[in-house]
Amino acid sequence: MIEVKDVYKKFDRHEVLKGVSLKVETGDVIVILGVSGSGKTTLLRCINFLDKADSGTLTIAGETVDLKHASKKEILTVRKKTAFVFQNHNLFNNKTALENVMEGLVIVRKVPKAEAEKRAKEALDKVGLAEKYDSYPSQLSGGQQQRVGIARAIVLNPEIIMFDEPTSALDPELVGETLKIMKKIADEGVTMIVVTHEMAFASEVANKVIFMDEGVIVEEGPPEEIFSNPKEERTRRFLKRILPESI
Ligand SMILES: Nc1ncnc2c1ncn2[C@@H]1O[C@H](COP(=O)(O)OP(=O)(O)OP(=O)(O)O)[C@@H](O)[C@H]1O
Ligand SMILES: [Mg+2]
Repeated sequence: MIEVKDVYKKFDRHEVLKGVSLKVETGDVIVILGVSGSGKTTLLRCINFLDKADSGTLTIAGETVDLKHASKKEILTVRKKTAFVFQNHNLFNNKTALENVMEGLVIVRKVPKAEAEKRAKEALDKVGLAEKYDSYPSQLSGGQQQRVGIARAIVLNPEIIMFDEPTSALDPELVGETLKIMKKIADEGVTMIVVTHEMAFASEVANKVIFMDEGVIVEEGPPEEIFSNPKEERTRRFLKRILPESI
């Protein structure tokens, strides 16, 4: 359903992505793991045209676009099918939760305001913020702000939602609520790619785990295989560091 092929990306002379390819089926929840600097964020940014790849293609809903040479129109078409949740939610501080969630529908999708409001409320209800429609980001906890960010993604009904370390900026006591919402969305069949260090989420929710190192995919497979029987030495070393008790 979504295919990323041979993505290369350099910053100056630093090769950050060295030919990354991956396939995502409808309903997949894919967790990407890897040490800091391995290229996880850059990969998601290239797929979303936030960084321009040096080469590579993206196929989504049957259409293939060149990640380097995509036209503005092609980029817009892809953006209509994807949503991105950042580490720092990037909410508008001068807009309420409801207005933040409506924004993409009204401005980008041209959905009439009344319908946008209805859908935005449903999305906020889904992430447990039915009481907070009229709150501004400064009146919400970090976890609640992040859930508004998630509502903003799901309201668009995208083919895929990509999350880049959605819980890493949160206080530990707020991580659980965000992961719970993400699990709920996954259970509804939403296709997701999640960069995270939350291994419990990876093993319980993901159907596929990808381990990246130095700009390449070293190993991929179902979580139970990757975690209990990693084939590559690099994967083993990484897991040993973050799961010292189980390997
Ligand atoms: N805009 C940029 N200009 C120059 N170098 C960059 C830029 N963005 C990323 N890099 C470099 O690319 C490499 C990969 O960065 P990236 O953010 O993709 O890593 P990551 O796997 O997401 O790491 P983390 O787990 O710390 O988020 C790093 O060495 C980083 O310094
Ligand atoms: Mg990153």
